Amino acid sequence: MINRVVLNETSYFGRGSRRKLAEELKSRRYEKVLLVSDQTLVQNNIVKMITDVLTAEGIIYFEYLNVRPNPTVANVQEGLRVAQISNIDAIIAVGGGSVIDTAKAMSIVMTNPEHSGIVSLDGAIKTRNKGLPVFALPTTSGTAAEVTINYVITDEANNKKMVCVDVHDIPVCAIIDPDLMQGMPQSLAATTGMDALTHAMEGYITKAGWLIPDIFHVNSMALIYKNLEQAANEKDEVAIEKMAYAQYIAGMGFSNVGLGIVHSMAHSLGAYFDTPHGLANAILLPHVLKFNGEVCPELFRNMGKAIGLNMDDLNDEAAVEKVVNAVVELSKKLKIPQTLREIGIQEEMIPTLANQAINDICTAGNPREVTVEDIISLYKKAY
Ligand SMILES: NC(=O)c1ccc[n+]([C@@H]2O[C@H](COP(=O)([O-])OP(=O)(O)OC[C@H]3O[C@@H](n4cnc5c(N)ncnc54)[C@H](O)[C@@H]3O)[C@@H](O)[C@H]2O)c1
Ligand SMILES: [Fe+2]
Repeated sequence: MINRVVLNETSYFGRGSRRKLAEELKSRRYEKVLLVSDQTLVQNNIVKMITDVLTAEGIIYFEYLNVRPNPTVANVQEGLRVAQISNIDAIIAVGGGSVIDTAKAMSIVMTNPEHSGIVSLDGAIKTRNKGLPVFALPTTSGTAAEVTINYVITDEANNKKMVCVDVHDIPVCAIIDPDLMQGMPQSLAATTGMDALTHAMEGYITKAGWLIPDIFHVNSMALIYKNLEQAANEKDEVAIEKMAYAQYIAGMGFSNVGLGIVHSMAHSLGAYFDTPHGLANAILLPHVLKFNGEVCPELFRNMGKAIGLNMDDLNDEAAVEKVVNAVVELSKKLKIPQTLREIGIQEEMIPTLANQAINDICTAGNPREVTVEDIISLYKKAY
């Protein structure tokens, strides 16, 4: 059996590590860069924390600051227009998954212009050239987009979240500076943290799981369990730092093995209802775990032990139940809504959502075979 692992060339971790950005750009002789971010991050001065670093070192930068959450094809194309006229040699992404994914898509099109229509990038594809170098600085603790080989872009014309998988999009350098995450509002820290937990758990039980990603996933879920509540509810500095690393570690795992149907189902909700990704995952995760537990109870025992539960003397069903209950308990402590009804999803859309989810690229990794009827029933349980 041969397994592949793809990770960043270089990554930095720690408060203040954003200072390394200028050093990395200079050592690679990148002189003109494009900074990609969004308006919320401009308003709360997170973008300034990065432009201060660039200005101090005399690095010339252009800006594209209009990425929206659940970014669209139009977003990528708008960013590309700025990139193309400024003759840049690298892209800096400062933001959550939405910003980093937009930057990754732009980087691919810059060097593979035959994909300027964007929709041809949907799915697992092999582009000819490596993307323009991306330097990614996450500001949420969830997606791990800074270390994954995926980017997710909404094709609005077809109501579809395209999951684009391509080794050429991985950022060359990731800088995980918890200072950039310290100001996240409670609900954002909570829901993005649940996205990271979903990556760790779905990545661990996915079909392609094997030793090295397993180590990442198990350690990531342990860290998330110890730190997410304090990070989100109390803004505890140490816990926020641990969450920053935990989400990255989960990304080192799932990016190399795939996920499962929590993500397939969350992508449909994002496409049709613009549901924040972490919120969709948090609501769906317990239901899908329960469904998948039937085929891999041993893995649930391991997950239970990893998150600190006593798993002795439990039969398979009880072991799965205990892990599921622990996930629900954490989600409630984080004050996350527990049903799709509460967040305004229309019940009559469930068959449409399910028909799209079954064809999502993440479905193939699910440990249990699924039908559209299974997915409909899971959405109904979550409703
Ligand atoms: N590439 C991958 O591997 C991968 C994995 C999972 C999810 N995703 C995608 O990532 C996107 C979600 O990303 P996300 O969950 O990080 O959220 P996001 O990037 O959509 O950000 C959500 C909101 O939070 C704001 N925000 C970000 N950081 C902040 C901070 N520090 N303080 C205050 N506000 C802040 C943003 O401005 C935005 O308004 C989805 O499109 C999802 O599909 C990608
Ligand atoms: Fe995710």
